[in-house]
Amino acid sequence: MDALASSPLGWLCVGVTVFFGVTVLRTTKRSLVEKGNVLLWSLLPALLGLLCVATLGAGGGLVVFCAVCLVSSVYLGGRVLLPVGDKAVLITGSDTGIGHALAKYLDNLGFIVFAGVLNKDGPGAEELQRTCSQRLFLLQLDITNATQIREAYLKVSEKVQNTGLWGVVNNAGILGFPADGELLPMSTYRQCMEVNFFGAVEVSKTFLPLLRKSQGRLVNMSSMAGIQGTADLWDKQEKELMESLPADTTQDYGEDYLLGLKSYLLHIPTYCDANLSPVLSAILHALLAKRPHGLYTPGKGSYMFLCIFCYFPLWFYDFFLSKMLSIESVPRALRTSEAESKDL
Ligand SMILES: NC(=O)c1ccc[n+]([C@@H]2O[C@H](COP(=O)([O-])OP(=O)(O)OC[C@H]3O[C@@H](n4cnc5c(N)ncnc54)[C@H](OP(=O)(O)O)[C@@H]3O)[C@@H](O)[C@H]2O)c1
Ligand SMILES: *[C@@H]1O[C@H](CO)[C@@H](O)[C@H](O)[C@H]1NC(C)=O
Ligand SMILES: *[C@@H]1O[C@H](CO)[C@@H](O)[C@H](O)[C@H]1NC(C)=O
Repeated sequence: MDALASSPLGWLCVGVTVFFGVTVLRTTKRSLVEKGNVLLWSLLPALLGLLCVATLGAGGGLVVFCAVCLVSSVYLGGRVLLPVGDKAVLITGSDTGIGHALAKYLDNLGFIVFAGVLNKDGPGAEELQRTCSQRLFLLQLDITNATQIREAYLKVSEKVQNTGLWGVVNNAGILGFPADGELLPMSTYRQCMEVNFFGAVEVSKTFLPLLRKSQGRLVNMSSMAGIQGTADLWDKQEKELMESLPADTTQDYGEDYLLGLKSYLLHIPTYCDANLSPVLSAILHALLAKRPHGLYTPGKGSYMFLCIFCYFPLWFYDFFLSKMLSIESVPRALRTSEAESKDL
């Protein structure tokens, strides 16, 4: 070690360590997401460098250490966030759930939040008004209503005149009753497209000029597996569904299967994590990261579904999903005679 400290190689080692240490320190300071222990993070490069040199010798150790520094600098660079400053963000569907939590979260971080709500007199809106800062503005915004979108646009553009709007989060969305496609009435499909698709498109089209002005961010939320809902909601939807089904369809699916759909749906929240912080952090990253990602899949293991869906044969995905969600029941018409006799 003594020889290393006085050699040019040793000085290079010290230089790389200091440079990397400063980078790490600056990054952690500017990252809102995970502050962690700053002292530990800035000592880490020195320890890592020593370890490399001690185990691999001066030359090899330095090469490995430099490579590690390069890779982690690129990784850490992706975590650098822009300052919140006076950035303004519009969120749709802030009455409940993720949108509601996001409005509070961004307000708390100092953003100017425009919280679009489906019902301005509802409990969700009331709670936001009560618990958030004066910066938060509530907007009556049913995204299927063109008049309300226009009115919201006028209010927002009046408030953000010079700075523009930094972000729009298309969060509002409905789930409907996720039963077999054949069972759902056309009105369910139409309503889903009205809110989840046309609504989001119209909001985006309306607010894009303001985003362009600020060179800001558009964040779309979609769902790949999250299902929520309440027993009351499923009761109501199940009743409507059962009443509208033709007799022969009911016969083909089997009453037991149809009634089983709801118990399966009620079971789903047990697969869902109640902790929204990975979702909120991902949205914050999308809004503030110097280099935001094109796609976020927050939540443990959620990328796995997407990966299997995209890169594996469909039969494997179906098999995986049925095992994962332990879907056991099958519509009557698809049951094998063996299973049928077991059922009896
Ligand atoms: N929770 C999950 O596990 C999960 C997983 C993946 C993706 N997502 C996505 O995340 C987003 C939010 O989900 P969430 O779980 O927070 O659902 P949520 O609690 O039902 O929130 C959706 C919000 O949108 C509102 N909304 C419904 N129709 C609207 C309309 N026409 N205009 C404006 N607002 C409307 C709802 O108001 P009301 O409450 O008054 O109906 C509700 O406040 C959705 O786009 C969903 O697809 C959620
Ligand atoms: C759309 O919103 C406007 C303004 O709030 C309201 O007067 C109108 O009734 C709404 N239209 C529908 C179809 O809900
Ligand atoms: C988000 O939605 C808008 C339309 O609402 C669309 O133009 C845009 O491409 C979407 N962005 C991503 C990343 O999907």
